[in-house]
Parts: sequence; C-alpha cells; structure tokens
Amino acid sequence: MRTSIRPTVAEVDLGVIRRNFDRISALVAPSAVWAVVKADAYGHGAVSVARALSDRCAALAVSLVEEGLELRSAGIRAPIVVLGAYYDHCHAQVIEDGLTPVIYDPLDLELFARAAEGRSEKVDVHVKIDTGMSRLGIDPSLLPEILDRSRALPGIRIAGLCTHFATADGPSGTATRAALERFRACVAVAAERGLVSLTTHAANSAAAVRFPETRLDAVRPGLALYGATASLEVPARDLEPALRLSTRLMSVRRVPAGTSVSYGARWLAPRPSLIGTLPVGYADGYPRHVESAEVLVRGRRAPVVGAVCMDMTMVDLTDVAGACVGDAVTLIGRDGTERIGVDDLARWAGTINYEILCGISKRVPRIYKD
Ligand SMILES: Cc1ncc(COP(=O)(O)O)c(C=O)c1O
Repeated sequence: MRTSIRPTVAEVDLGVIRRNFDRISALVAPSAVWAVVKADAYGHGAVSVARALSDRCAALAVSLVEEGLELRSAGIRAPIVVLGAYYDHCHAQVIEDGLTPVIYDPLDLELFARAAEGRSEKVDVHVKIDTGMSRLGIDPSLLPEILDRSRALPGIRIAGLCTHFATADGPSGTATRAALERFRACVAVAAERGLVSLTTHAANSAAAVRFPETRLDAVRPGLALYGATASLEVPARDLEPALRLSTRLMSVRRVPAGTSVSYGARWLAPRPSLIGTLPVGYADGYPRHVESAEVLVRGRRAPVVGAVCMDMTMVDLTDVAGACVGDAVTLIGRDGTERIGVDDLARWAGTINYEILCGISKRVPRIYKD
C-alpha cells in the first residue's frame, strides 16, 4: 500500500532517537530519563517514539491527558506523566488509564481523591511548584498548606514534586540556580512533613545538559531526544537530528527576467530563471514567512522565491545544473555535503526549532526508519 501519493514526507529515524536517549541517559546517570513525547513527540509521532523507547525509558511525559490516552490506546504501558495538568472532569479517567497527574490546583487534589475513593491502592500525584516561570505551579508559600491538606485525603499520595525552568537555555545560569534553590526549599518543606521519598524532577533538555545539579531524580528532555538544542548556549553533545523533511520537484519552468513568482508578485526574476515548484506549503508546516530560505536539490542550495503557498512553494533552480521534474528536494536534512538543519529553517522563519518540528502537519506522512 502506498503511504502517500504526493512525495512530501517526513522520515523519522527511531534508531537516532534511541541513540540520543542513550547519550542523555549516560550523561545524567544515575538520574532517570523521562522522554517528553508531548505534541506528538514534537512532530515525530508519539506512539512510534514511545514504542521505540519502551525498553529503556523509565517514564514518558505528555502535556495533555488526551496525549496520554492516545498512548494507552496504542498499548503503551510505561508510566506516563501528564505535565500540562488540565483535567476538567476527567480525574476518574486519568486514574483508570494509569496516568500520573501533575497538579497545581489544590482543587484537583480533592477531585483526584474523590475519584480514587474505593480503590485498594493510593493514586500517585505530583505537585508542580512555580519557581520563577510564572506559568503553572503553586506558589512555594502555599506548599505547606497543600501538603497538610493532602494528608487528610485518603485516596491519594503525593509521590513527586516538580518544577520547570524558564531560562535554562539562556546566557546565564543565575536564574536557573535561583529557581533550583527555591525548589530545594520546597523539597525540604515536604521532608519536614515526612515526605522523604518523593520523586523530584525539574530539568528540560537544556538544564539536564548544562546544569548537573538540576538533574535530581529524573530529567524530562524533549528537544534533545529529537537531536536539537534550544540555543547555542546548550552544547549539542553528539545529538543527531532524527527527522528529515523532503519532497520532489513537481514542475519546472523557464521564465524570462522580470517574471513574477507566486501570490502578490513580490518576487521578480532578476535574470532568465529556472523556477521549480515543490508540493509542500504552509498547510504542511513549511513556514509561510521565510526570509532567504533554501532547499537542497542535487546537492546544491536553491533559494525559496516568492510567497510560500498553502500547498506549494517555488524555488530558483537556475544554478542547479540539470534540475528536472522528479528530482529529490531536501527541506530539512542532508544532501551530499550540504545540510539544512531545523535550526536553519527556524532562523529563516524567525521562530524556534520547536515550532518548526511541532508544526509539521498531519498531512505529511511520517515514514519510520529503525
Ligand atoms: C514541563 C516541561 N518539561 C519538560 C519539557 C521538555 O523541554 P525540552 O524540549 O526543552 O527538553 C517541556 C517542554 O516544553 C515542558 O513544558
């Protein structure tokens, strides 16, 4: 069966993801590594990535309950931590499906306790602390009260404390160290209340790589698993990119100097040119607003010209000798000695590599190599 008719595909190398995982594990040992597979494993396919890591990964982390349920429906049995902490009325289902909830709202503690009533075993929940990101998490000053209240709730057990760093990929480590100190103070508050065997976790990829003191019991890398780093501050540590985005030339035309290309006629051929059309556009996640973007054809760089359309993108092939319909085109990946990284595309689009990876849309088939 053909997985796609159009040749635009994202190839994902699961062996690469496993190697990246193993490199991170070796680096952070003895801390555990929880693979962050939210947002469909940053566009790589959560079920496939979870399966590929199932023999070595202590736990998986998702943002949404829905993402955890998708993994459970696919038969993934590993522990799954729900980082995004949005539960609405689904507390019973979270427990039923064996997801480990992170909570930041004391009301959720009560609701999980109620949903856990009648169970023979206590339900583990993790409490998230806001140590400086001002996004999610309880204020450290409220922790004593929340821990005391949780003791009166029979069905649940506070099994973990966590936080998230805002600037682990930034130029200075000062804010990350200060956040870690605030977190450590919270761990001490819990210990004073007898909670001494809590699982503590805080580090994303950047913190896990750069700040050994943040590794605690477990680290939560996402981006590093997929072979990317959040900034130049974060050493790449032999991580390999796991995703390649490619297509083929669907049409090629010669145009005289002065011919306009694409919507808005904003690009005019400065010389007689060979223009190629690619069957990929912003509906596939190739960014609409790119500046000086390039693709690789026959091992040469070809500039993107004119506006990126919803389903198609034009490139200038004038300097690519012999370019013709059917030629392979690399949008992210290597062709011969040339390479376009997800960081390059992010820079051309004025965004971050996370957004490019997560943005590759579902109409682009993922082809798995292992
Ligand atoms: C709470 C939490 N932990 C871990 C991660 C993984 O971060 P990264 O992909 O930078 O490793 C994220 C991602 O945004 C997150 O929100």
